[in-house]
Amino acid sequence: MREQWNTKLGFILAAIGSAVGLGNLWRFPYIAASNGGGAFILPYLFAILTAGIPILILEYTLGKTYKSGAPGTFARINKKFEVLGWFQVAISFLITVYYFAIVVWVICYLGYSVTLAWGDDSTTFFVANFLEATSSADGTGGLNTKLIIPFLIVWAITAFIMYRGINKGIDLACKICLPILLLCVIIIVIRGLTLPGAVDGLAYMFTPDWSKIASADVWVAAYGQVFFSLSIAFAIMISYSSYLPEKEDVVNTAFLTACTNHGFEIFAGIGIFAIIGYMASVQGVAVEEVAAGGIGLAFMVFPTAISTLPALNALFGVLFFLSLFTAGVTSLISIIQAVISGVQDKWELSRNKATTAVLVPAFIVSFAFITRSGLDYLDFADYIANNFGIVLAGVIEVVLIGWFFKPEKIRQVANLNSNFSIGVWWTWCLKVVTVVVLGYTFISNMIVYVKEGYGGYPSWIGIVCIAFLVISAIVFTAIKGKPGFYERPEGAPGYDD
Ligand code: PHE
Repeated sequence: MREQWNTKLGFILAAIGSAVGLGNLWRFPYIAASNGGGAFILPYLFAILTAGIPILILEYTLGKTYKSGAPGTFARINKKFEVLGWFQVAISFLITVYYFAIVVWVICYLGYSVTLAWGDDSTTFFVANFLEATSSADGTGGLNTKLIIPFLIVWAITAFIMYRGINKGIDLACKICLPILLLCVIIIVIRGLTLPGAVDGLAYMFTPDWSKIASADVWVAAYGQVFFSLSIAFAIMISYSSYLPEKEDVVNTAFLTACTNHGFEIFAGIGIFAIIGYMASVQGVAVEEVAAGGIGLAFMVFPTAISTLPALNALFGVLFFLSLFTAGVTSLISIIQAVISGVQDKWELSRNKATTAVLVPAFIVSFAFITRSGLDYLDFADYIANNFGIVLAGVIEVVLIGWFFKPEKIRQVANLNSNFSIGVWWTWCLKVVTVVVLGYTFISNMIVYVKEGYGGYPSWIGIVCIAFLVISAIVFTAIKGKPGFYERPEGAPGYDD
């Protein structure tokens, strides 16, 4: 018997747990600030309505109807589509191995917060003392031995959750992590807003710059953020919804997931930029000089901000890194589950076997990211996965379903158990809007990359990485699965009918 969520709440929390990740905390505020501030809200809302929610509804409906991870779901629609599922799984595997390393760093920083171990120069501390970073041009630099124990701890936690399965593992982990995350972020926002200089940070994040709205880059950034933030085209949402009971209302749930995720993202952004505004005012510099996104924000800017707080610095540091940890873990387990579902469904393995089959190789590969060149590798893997992997997976998904399958049939299925029905707008968002935006994004990213390369590596390296993902997908498609894998559940629309 296929596992099933015990309760609808379990599924909703897991989906929210996946969506709310490091992307919400460290990506959104900076993307918003550098793409028109308050004016960014317009393309952002547009992207949520035309791509985020429609694709979420699509993926929930697919998972629930075809009852398999991404590879099985696409295979049951049409055998030729299976390779897309494996491509998404391959990207998820790549993201898994480096996301691990980030969670490892977060655990270490949770400990460092207690003594504010980063001192006065958090950037040097992070790069030189903590990561002992060397350039990947000089080889791996060997394992960074102080990361080994935290690395094993994160692995142990994750393996524990994954072996326990959907309800006893993932559901439970989300029920523990999400309330902690919410509480930490509420405290961060309140503290942030009561600091002098907070308004400067907020002004930086929200002051609308309408002149930017005309630029295609801003729209691309908005769609990119929505995609990443909702974990769509990662195989995750298909996998999670495949454990839903038949009668579940997915339209409702998709709106709920999206609103919670984006609401939380904006809320957390307020806290983060309030604190950065405060830090800038203490240092007497402009907010734009200290603002950063991504790893820079979490491990370089924010530690300094924590040290400059007037009181309770250590406590505040713990809260901040605890929120990164809880947000990170619930996303990490979702992406591993996406890979596990793919493998488990195709060869009809037991939960334990499938988990081992995924965790062992992931464990081995993830060592690369705790070497002294790990930061370089991580940055590059992240760039490839987000700029090409997910965008390509997304565009192929909407083209296949929108143009080569029957989106209207899927819409009927989605409406079957829904409180409110989605109209034809949904079909057109998928068929036209998302196809155009994602196609454009992919091509323009590719042009920039081929011209300029990234991270000091020649462009062919990235092309080889993408080719490697595609080839892995083809290989996994080619290996024969159990007959049940290709069998369409009753009532699920097929390609030929
Ligand atoms: N939505 C997630 C985030 O914001 C994206 C993600 C999911 C990334 C799972 C990694 C793993 O971080």
